Amino acid sequence: MKKKLLFVSLLAAATMMVSATVSMASPVVIKFSHVVAENTPKGQMAVKFKELIDERLAGKVEVEVFPNSQLFGDNKVIEAMLLGDVQLAAPSLSKFNKYTDSLQIFDLPFLFKDMDAVEKFQKGAKGQELLMSMKNKGLIGLGYLHNGLKQLSASDKLVVPADAAKKKFRIMSSDVLEAQFHAIDAMPLKKPFSEVFTLLQTKAIDGQENTWSNIYSKKFYEVQPYITESNHGVLDYLVITSTEFWMGLPSDLRGEIKQALDEAIAFGNKVADEKSVSDRQQIIDSKRSEIVTLTDAQRELWVESMKPVWKKFEKEIGKEYIDAAIASNK
Ligand code: SIN
Repeated sequence: MKKKLLFVSLLAAATMMVSATVSMASPVVIKFSHVVAENTPKGQMAVKFKELIDERLAGKVEVEVFPNSQLFGDNKVIEAMLLGDVQLAAPSLSKFNKYTDSLQIFDLPFLFKDMDAVEKFQKGAKGQELLMSMKNKGLIGLGYLHNGLKQLSASDKLVVPADAAKKKFRIMSSDVLEAQFHAIDAMPLKKPFSEVFTLLQTKAIDGQENTWSNIYSKKFYEVQPYITESNHGVLDYLVITSTEFWMGLPSDLRGEIKQALDEAIAFGNKVADEKSVSDRQQIIDSKRSEIVTLTDAQRELWVESMKPVWKKFEKEIGKEYIDAAIASNK
């Protein structure tokens, strides 16, 4: 009996030693998958996050970054996250249609007057509430990351909404964006980001909407002779993780990872600010694409045509969120 007890104790001690060795030798791996280039706000934020984790949590946490849709493209990344194949992603806010209605607020055309208003809304009570809008689907929003305001690129000059009629535009997977293009009698097509350049180059589509940094880093300006500086909507990101992964982390480690992430997001937001100016200038300097500047009267025509979309989605999104967004313009 004594011998048996001794054997059991030794076995337990050995098991503890093995598991301690395994946990020392097995850092938590965070795969961060995204679809843009490294020289973009999101690309730079992901690199910064990895650097901070390497500095502070070497041996405990390992971050692997996969840019340019190398691992997963667009909506696939969310499915992969729910299966545990990726732990961090930052899809555009326009790509959560399948998971929540409320985040569609960010797609309403001409809702925010500038990026300061976007920031104010995101930091406010309603914006913070939206971080948790997919909790019942197993997803947690850890923070917003800026890219910037969207412009309209096209193979023909777009000055008034009628210029876009019957033209095909690639859009992200958002019903609001679909309605926005229907409102100007255009033909929207939901397509993954990784396909946009080829669709434009082969003239399978006539145009698309995106930020200066995406238009520049993915070279859309080389195959689109006109870019209308419309600033008609926002393209920002939600940094997400799965509830299962996040809540499974020891709380001290979770706190340190969150701290690094917040710092990386602040860095990415600075990059976004800078790139909205410098990438725009690079495009102008390239002389490959003409920037179309709208007069106030011309811009008002776009606002008038697209704004009815708000009413259409008010119930789905929630009026209280729309009111809070409008208030952030003041
Ligand atoms: C992104 O910035 O992540 C991609 C945006 C797009 O799909 O147009």
